[in-house]
Amino acid sequence: MRTDTPQTIYRKDYAAPHYLADTVEMGFDLDPSDTRVATRITMTRNPAAKSRDLVLFGEELELVALRLNGKLLTQAKGDFRIAGGVLTIPAAPAKVVLEIETLVHPDRNTSLMGLYVSNGNFFTQCEAEGFRKITYFPDRPDVMAKFTVMLRADKARYPVLLSNGNLIEEGDLPDGRHYAKWEDPFKKPSYLFALVAGNLVCQEETVRLHSGRDALLQVWVEEGNLDKTQHAMDSLKNSITWDVQRFGLDLDLDRFMIVAVGDFNMGAMENKGLNIFNTKYVLANPRIATDVDFANIEAVVGHEYFHNWTGNRVTCRDWFQLSLKEGLTVFRDQEFSADMIGSDSGRAVKRIDDVRVLRQAQFPEDAGPMAHPVRPDSYVEINNFYTVTVYEKGAEVVRMYQTLLGRDGFRKGMDLYFERHDGQAVTCDDFRAAMADANGRDLSQFERWYSQAGTPQVQASVDYDAKRKTLTLTLEQSCPPTPGQKKKQPFHIPVAVGLLDAQGRDLALTLEGEKKAGPTTRVLELTKAKQSFRFVNVEQKPVPSLLRGFSAPVLLQYDYSDAELAFLMAHDSDAFNRWEAGQRLATRRLLNLTVAVQAARQSGHVVSVDTVLNNLEHDGALANALRATLRDEALDPAFRELVLTLPSETMIAEQMEIIDPHAIHVARQFLRRSLARELREDLLAAYHANQTPGDYSPDAASAGRRALKNVALSYLAELDDEQAMTLAQQQDQQANNMTDRLAALSAILNSAAPGKSEALQRFYAEFEQEALVIDKWFTLQATARNADVNTVRTLAEHPAFTLKNPNRARSLIFSFCNGNPSAFHAPDGNGYSFWAEQVIALNASNPQVAARLARSLDRWRKYSPALQEKMRLALQQVAAAPKLSRDVAEVVTKALAN
Ligand code: TRP
Ligand code: ZN
Repeated sequence: MRTDTPQTIYRKDYAAPHYLADTVEMGFDLDPSDTRVATRITMTRNPAAKSRDLVLFGEELELVALRLNGKLLTQAKGDFRIAGGVLTIPAAPAKVVLEIETLVHPDRNTSLMGLYVSNGNFFTQCEAEGFRKITYFPDRPDVMAKFTVMLRADKARYPVLLSNGNLIEEGDLPDGRHYAKWEDPFKKPSYLFALVAGNLVCQEETVRLHSGRDALLQVWVEEGNLDKTQHAMDSLKNSITWDVQRFGLDLDLDRFMIVAVGDFNMGAMENKGLNIFNTKYVLANPRIATDVDFANIEAVVGHEYFHNWTGNRVTCRDWFQLSLKEGLTVFRDQEFSADMIGSDSGRAVKRIDDVRVLRQAQFPEDAGPMAHPVRPDSYVEINNFYTVTVYEKGAEVVRMYQTLLGRDGFRKGMDLYFERHDGQAVTCDDFRAAMADANGRDLSQFERWYSQAGTPQVQASVDYDAKRKTLTLTLEQSCPPTPGQKKKQPFHIPVAVGLLDAQGRDLALTLEGEKKAGPTTRVLELTKAKQSFRFVNVEQKPVPSLLRGFSAPVLLQYDYSDAELAFLMAHDSDAFNRWEAGQRLATRRLLNLTVAVQAARQSGHVVSVDTVLNNLEHDGALANALRATLRDEALDPAFRELVLTLPSETMIAEQMEIIDPHAIHVARQFLRRSLARELREDLLAAYHANQTPGDYSPDAASAGRRALKNVALSYLAELDDEQAMTLAQQQDQQANNMTDRLAALSAILNSAAPGKSEALQRFYAEFEQEALVIDKWFTLQATARNADVNTVRTLAEHPAFTLKNPNRARSLIFSFCNGNPSAFHAPDGNGYSFWAEQVIALNASNPQVAARLARSLDRWRKYSPALQEKMRLALQQVAAAPKLSRDVAEVVTKALAN
């Protein structure tokens, strides 16, 4: 916590470290209130550096002693100085052995960065700059060293002592204490350091690696959770196999550990050989975890494991390069999940899910006050830049290399990247150079994907010449201004296209000048502001299928008629675009309905779903297309579920000039209800046809059936008829897994059915001991249709609620502020006052989590003047709060800036 004006760090100011570290030895005397940390670092002056000053970072530390080459240093004598979290030893010798003793207080550490206590056990979190809360250190990713760690603690309370690498020694000490000594054979930056100490148990297994070596795999949890570790273990084994198969990358350690912790700021952390996970991404069994949880666990276990090569073996030179490891590793985990599903249609379902996240969260970020390039140019607090832009858009950027170079070309680039940079701390430019050099391609313009923020727009138009049988596709790109970037240069955009004939078949695509007919999908490379591509031998006017597979993170505009969209929904061979056509059609309807609701409200009608329902003319195009999809047994149930799911209220909001949350909500509810009426028989049929009797299995096919069945149930619940209610009640009583249980409870809660509070109470009583399920219980209520800020205030008083646990805070507060827009943006502004209170409360205990919540008002300038005014006041209230963290200050300052 700092009260001085926060400093901005610029990428252009990067300077090499003055000293490089060789070895680090650490000793921890673990105690919850006072932990002693002794550190010995051997360092060498960096020939590339200009200064002889030895610079160390440290925060919230009690410095006990500091020795340089055996000599005790004294601050009073000017041997060193400490200011603003930086310890400087001026004019140090070329070779340095530094010995540092610090005292820290893990039990008072509520920020969950550095060394902290969770449920009586010790954990660390060092990325990005948490290591400096353990000891003074050159805590920057381009300083890498070999670590040896000695842990000492009370044996009864902390029987398990873990750190990175290999266990080389353990034994007993006097006074009931014991020790364990760990050695990590690989050089690493301090952000990858980790220790865990406590009362934990593990599931373990030895596996034979591709190299022929054996490795010990462990999943560590609290006692009582060993019935929830199998899926994480399976996911880890699959990750190890997949990385060898797809990228030729094997595990480089004899031992690989995953540890679950209940108090954690994010999803998980890739510490070398000792991954630490939020319990949410480890613990699963059918009773407590949904299909989505199972899939997320697979993805996150994969993600952290894949970091071992993309992040750890090759790391980032500085934090501006964060997407070097995160974008690449998200891309890898996305591909892993897709390959685990296997089928083409399964891959498409995964792709649609990923694109939905991008549009729902990253597009708004790119259009708001925190917009930044995939490789930012500046930051105040690096924790604020673990964003959907760096992660998700970064993954899209990596995917575009693969689209442009092909799978094999991409693999060649990866191989060259490791050949060149194994053991180094590098930049996004180094990655791009490896991709270009391995393929003999010029990717210089591609750099703009790293340096320019904002979502590019691509406007497409076609001109068919019936006489010449040619079709000219014209693509025009632009990119809106973002903070600090008024004008943008054209991007290098891969646009995958296909053309459908009147029967819906793909045409072979031949570009002007080509001798032979080409494939049915072509990747066009748009590099100019405006560019035309001419296809020849086009016998009849086709329907274009543009940006197939979402080949670039752009907004593609094309003037489709309703009929063309319905046609694409029925025929496109590209499953992504088949889904996309439905989304376009639904978005069009939803925007029209929203305008109609606004008009009705203006004219003084009492606006409810029903009044609008009765006042609007019915339109069947969407319903008919959805019915056809619903009935098409050839389509994966998982895919049909995605088609049936309307664009979210947030997605619609992004399409509006001035966001009107209430009108959007009414419009979407209206459309859901009218579709439910129209498709009632088909929904019922789908509900019954997609049961998954027998033992639960989280495989994609079964999950898809449950998803389709449950989306059908949620539509039917809109009708408030007895049959639907009976189905929901039955499912609530009989479900043998959390997916079905939660879907039933949600249907009951969001309908006019009686017995809501009984169902909620029954659920609570049954799962009281399962924190992750109680999180779901809070979320369900915070996002329920009839919830308002008072519902959430009441729930915040519940004995099971606490702001101190990030998962719990997210389950109630974040879910309401981000997941229930019409209630959060209630005209009285009470949602905003609540938000301000919570941000201020969280700021005092956990700045990182507080700053995430602070971002809920990012898009405040997109609302009506009346709402804007109330949001501005709330933002100002936070900005004026005492002891504002750098994290929160950056977010609200940028939101309020012009
Ligand atoms: N590097 C981690 C990942 O992407 C995420 C991470 C960064 C993190 N900083 C963190 C996790 C702080 C927890 C707390 O997998
Ligand atoms: Zn990551």
